[in-house]
Amino acid sequence: MTDEWLKRTTRSVPLTRVDATVPNVARVWNYLVGGRDNFEADRAAARQLIAVAPVMAEIAPASRAFLGRVIRFLAADAGIRQFLDVGTGIPTAGNTHEIAQAIAPESRIVYVDNDPVVLAHARALLRSSPEGVTSYIDADAREPGKIIANARQTLDFERPVGLVLMDILNFIDGAGEVGAILGTLLDAVPAGSYLAVSQAASDLEETLVEAQQRWNELAASTPIWLRDRSTVTAWFDGLELIEPGIVEVDTWHPADGDARAARVMPVYGAVARKRLRGGEPGWRTTTRSGAHVRR
Ligand SMILES: C[S@@+](CC[C@H](N)C(=O)[O-])C[C@H]1O[C@@H](n2cnc3c(N)ncnc32)[C@H](O)[C@@H]1O
Repeated sequence: MTDEWLKRTTRSVPLTRVDATVPNVARVWNYLVGGRDNFEADRAAARQLIAVAPVMAEIAPASRAFLGRVIRFLAADAGIRQFLDVGTGIPTAGNTHEIAQAIAPESRIVYVDNDPVVLAHARALLRSSPEGVTSYIDADAREPGKIIANARQTLDFERPVGLVLMDILNFIDGAGEVGAILGTLLDAVPAGSYLAVSQAASDLEETLVEAQQRWNELAASTPIWLRDRSTVTAWFDGLELIEPGIVEVDTWHPADGDARAARVMPVYGAVARKRLRGGEPGWRTTTRSGAHVRR
């Protein structure tokens, strides 16, 4: 662990929680998006993953770009002013609050992650606009009730919330567990709230399955779970999917001038809206990005 790294952290995190010798999800991701908050074990792991599945070099940047477009959509087109970002990652360019508050400075954002390195860097996530608020919860996504209870200090659960779970459900075990987490989060927010998810795919790119196996050997305590389209589709049951539905992340509302990956991007992304009560009238509008949103 270098002094340079320590200078960039809050130093308030017990460093016994940080093992620089074992690859770590948040730090490997940080390396893959071009960040500096990672150690040699993380970089070596990332290089191994890319050797097995070259698309790994593109997945993290494409997923971050998807996050950016989703937050812009939610803030600018859907009028969302509150966000719960679970599995935040180490702060990097284009954090959720920066994008949302550039559009609506009064936006309120709660970040959640269970990684000590993310906690050590949380100060960068707390630089809110003066009109808005950001806060950080050091918690496990498998405890959604605790997350909601804490988030109530910052968010008003009578008003719509954007639930953002980007590339985190990959690390949640078991068939039923993700559904239960999403169910608890969705139950806590009112109609008109949104759920945004990205999830690495098991059925789009064979080499990603090999990279999954390699990761699970390298970091056995935080295995990654790939999911197929039908599993991801089931998470959105009862919600109103925003067009174009569940797609590879780089094809969800691509921005003008975005470079499209030459290969299939094996990460599913989707945004959906919690429906208004059965039959309650709403009206459809076509947004700037061409999606239909009922207000
Ligand atoms: C692949 S990174 C994605 C970061 C960010 N959402 C993004 O899209 O750039 C996954 C993040 O989820 C966090 N994470 C993994 N399992 C978690 C859990 N059970 N509870 C909370 N956070 C978790 C990791 O610490 C890491 O920061």
